[in-house]
Amino acid sequence: MTGLESPRIATEVMNKRLVAGSFSRAATSYDSVAGLQREVGQRLLQLSPEGWHGQLLDLGSGTGYFSLPLAQLPDTRVVALDLAQGMLNFARRTRPHPDINYLCADAEQLPLADSCLDGLYSSLAIQWCQSPERLFAELARVLRPGARALIATLGPETLGELRQAWAAVDRYQHVNQFESQQRIESAFSAGFTIEVFEQRRIVLQFERLKQLTDELKGLGAHNLNPGRQIGLSGRERVKAFRSAYEALRDDQGKIPATYQVYYYRLQRC
Ligand SMILES: C[S@@+](CC[C@H](N)C(=O)[O-])C[C@H]1O[C@@H](n2cnc3c(N)ncnc32)[C@H](O)[C@@H]1O
Repeated sequence: MTGLESPRIATEVMNKRLVAGSFSRAATSYDSVAGLQREVGQRLLQLSPEGWHGQLLDLGSGTGYFSLPLAQLPDTRVVALDLAQGMLNFARRTRPHPDINYLCADAEQLPLADSCLDGLYSSLAIQWCQSPERLFAELARVLRPGARALIATLGPETLGELRQAWAAVDRYQHVNQFESQQRIESAFSAGFTIEVFEQRRIVLQFERLKQLTDELKGLGAHNLNPGRQIGLSGRERVKAFRSAYEALRDDQGKIPATYQVYYYRLQRC
């Protein structure tokens, strides 16, 4: 390590702690507000290859909702891995299964042996990683040649309305950055080929803006990127944000929140 690298690493460690803390605190509320996450995860499960089995990894397993159907596949064991210990504790308590092992670890630094996995499932987690290149290098290392990886993640149009409303108020980064399809694909191109790709635009509709902001809080999906504003937003700024978002009500009079979802079924080369 050179001296120049250490501030970057320190910032990353701090950001990961924030992500882990935020999701751990949200463990008990997450399931009650995770409608979109259920829909995406179910669609991703439908992309499972015929006869999928063996040692599977549920990466960013959260409350373990999808670890369970994976563990119920014949002749399968699952590692449910998450950065947030609070999520794993909740999953172990509420969805126990003898063929699931829980592991608190970082997707970008997996404590797993080379080629030890027969498959990977990861729904709406990898967008929290710092470097797609480092993530996919790790996934290529731990998956055996020929193994399949099912991955759902978010594209840059996600929460565009939220970004647009804050942009009318200030220049801080209030909404997480999501990687482009091109950046994601170039990060995995050395280790994986694409078997299936789908893109869906899902627009949630809310009666009131507070329902959206409460949902994001309940999911633990706060903005934790560098560039966010630290501290409370001033009353005037929040008011300006609200009126900018209210102006975006759709033709049914609802508050829209767009999610751009990418679904991949990849094969390890
Ligand atoms: C939106 S939740 C999705 C949970 C679950 N897959 C689902 O679909 O319900 C994202 C999860 O990814 C986890 N996560 C975020 N960054 C991670 C990382 N670097 N390594 C492992 N897990 C991570 C979070 O702690 C959180 O539980």
